[in-house]
Amino acid sequence: MNQTSSQPSTWSQRFESALHPAIARFNASIGFDIRLIEYDITGSQAHARMLAHTGIISAEEGEKLVRGLEQIRQEYRQGFFNPGIDAEDVHLAVERRLTELVGEVGKKLHTARSRNDQVSTDTRLYLRDQIQQIRVQLREFQSVLLNLAEQHVETLIPGYTHLQRAQPLSLAHHLLAYFEMGQRDWERLGEIYQRVNISPLGSGALAGTTFPIDRHYTAQLLNFSGVYANSLDGVSDRDFAIEFLCAASLIMVHLSRLSEEMILWASEEFGFITLKDSCSTGSSIMPQKKNPDVPELVRGKTGRVFGHLQGLLVLMKGLPLAYNKDLQEDKEALFDAVITVQACLEAMTILLREGMEFHITRLQAAVNEDFSNATDVADYLAAKGVPFREAYNLVGKVVKTSLAQGKLLKDLTLDEWKGLHPAFEADIYDAIAPARVVAARNSYGGTGFEQVRRALQTAKNRISHKNADD
Ligand code: ARG
Repeated sequence: MNQTSSQPSTWSQRFESALHPAIARFNASIGFDIRLIEYDITGSQAHARMLAHTGIISAEEGEKLVRGLEQIRQEYRQGFFNPGIDAEDVHLAVERRLTELVGEVGKKLHTARSRNDQVSTDTRLYLRDQIQQIRVQLREFQSVLLNLAEQHVETLIPGYTHLQRAQPLSLAHHLLAYFEMGQRDWERLGEIYQRVNISPLGSGALAGTTFPIDRHYTAQLLNFSGVYANSLDGVSDRDFAIEFLCAASLIMVHLSRLSEEMILWASEEFGFITLKDSCSTGSSIMPQKKNPDVPELVRGKTGRVFGHLQGLLVLMKGLPLAYNKDLQEDKEALFDAVITVQACLEAMTILLREGMEFHITRLQAAVNEDFSNATDVADYLAAKGVPFREAYNLVGKVVKTSLAQGKLLKDLTLDEWKGLHPAFEADIYDAIAPARVVAARNSYGGTGFEQVRRALQTAKNRISHKNADD
C-alpha cells in the first residue's frame, strides 16, 4: 500500500493513501466521543454475545471478544487507554485495541454491524444513564424546596405581576411553584426515557444485514424495552436527543427564573435573602460587595443549553436518509447540555439548602408597607353586595387619595372608610391585614394557608413515591 503518512489507513484497500493530517484532525471525534467508551464496550459485548448466540461466530470466539472488551474497560478505568487522533473515533479505537489484545478474532467483532448503528446505540445508552441521574437530581432539588416551604408556610412575601406589587403570598406557595415545575421536568424526562430506551443495534449501515442476527437478543441484553422497527430510521433518528434537549432547556428555564428571583431578592433594593459566604463571592475592587454568582451563572448557562437545542434542530433539518457525517456533531451538543444541566441542578440545590437565608423581618415589613391588600378591600365590598367593578373603582380612588396623603389603607380611620361607602365596618381592618389577606385566598391551588398545607402534603406524597413509576 502506498502510504503517505506514517499511520496505516483504517479503510479498505480501496484507499491508497492516508488522510492529510489536518483532515484527520478535522474528521476525528475521539477527542469528545471517548466519553462514550464504556457504553461502546457494553454495546459491543452484547453484540459479540449475540453473534455467538446465533452461531455467526463460535461460543469460544464470543467469549474471547467479551473478555478482551472487558480488559479495555479496565485499562480505560485505570488510565492506561488513551487513544489518539489516528484512531478517529471511540468505536475504531476500541476495535483496534481489541485486536491487539485478542488477535485475529478481534476483527470479527464488527461482523453484521456498522458504526452507524453502533454510535446510535452508544448515544442512547449514555443518555439513558444521564436522564436517570438528572431525575435523581431533580428529586433532590424538589425536596430542598419542599423543606424550605415547610418552614415558611406563614412567612409572607409580596407577590408580583409585571414586577409590581400585586398580592401578598405565603412564601411556601411561592417555593412550591418551583416544586411543581420540577415535578413536570421529572415527569417529562421519564416520558422521554421511554423513547430513548429503544435499540437501533442491528440496523447495520442503513438496510439491515445479511447475517441471521437477533436484534431482540441484544436489546434484551442491553435492557432496551424494544427495537427500532425500521433500519433507516434506527441509524438516522436523533429525535430522542432533540427531545432531551427540549426537556433540558425547560429545566434551565425553570432554574433561570428562580435564579433571576434570587438575584433580585439578594439586592439591597429587595433585601429578601442573604447569601451565605459558602455560596457567594466578593468583588476584587469593591469591598462591600457580595455577589450572587451561582444564580447568575445558572441564568447565563441557560443560553448554552438553548443553543444546543437550536443547533441540533438545524443540524437535522436538511439531512437526507440515512446516516450523514453531520450526525457526528450531535455529541458535543448533547454532552455539554447534560453536563450543564447536572452542574446547575447541583449548584442550585446547594444554594437553596445551605447557601441562603430568608430575611423574615424584611419580608414582614415588605408586605405591610404597600397596597397589595387593595383587591381585598374590593372583595370586602363585593362580598357585601356591591358589584365588583364598582368596588374596584372606589378602591382605586382610595388608593389615589391615600398615596397623596402618604398613608396606607390600614391608616384610614373607620369614619373615613364609612365616608367612602356605608358598607364598611370595623372588620375592614382585619380583612386587610396581610396574614388575613393570604389566608382568605383559600380557593383550590391558591395561597391560603390551608391550601398550602394541603399542597405540601401532596408534594410530600409525590416525592416519597418517587420510584413508583420509574
Ligand atoms: N464518529 C461517528 C459519529 O459520531 C461514528 C459513525 C461513523 N459512521 C460513518 N459512516 N462514518 O457519527
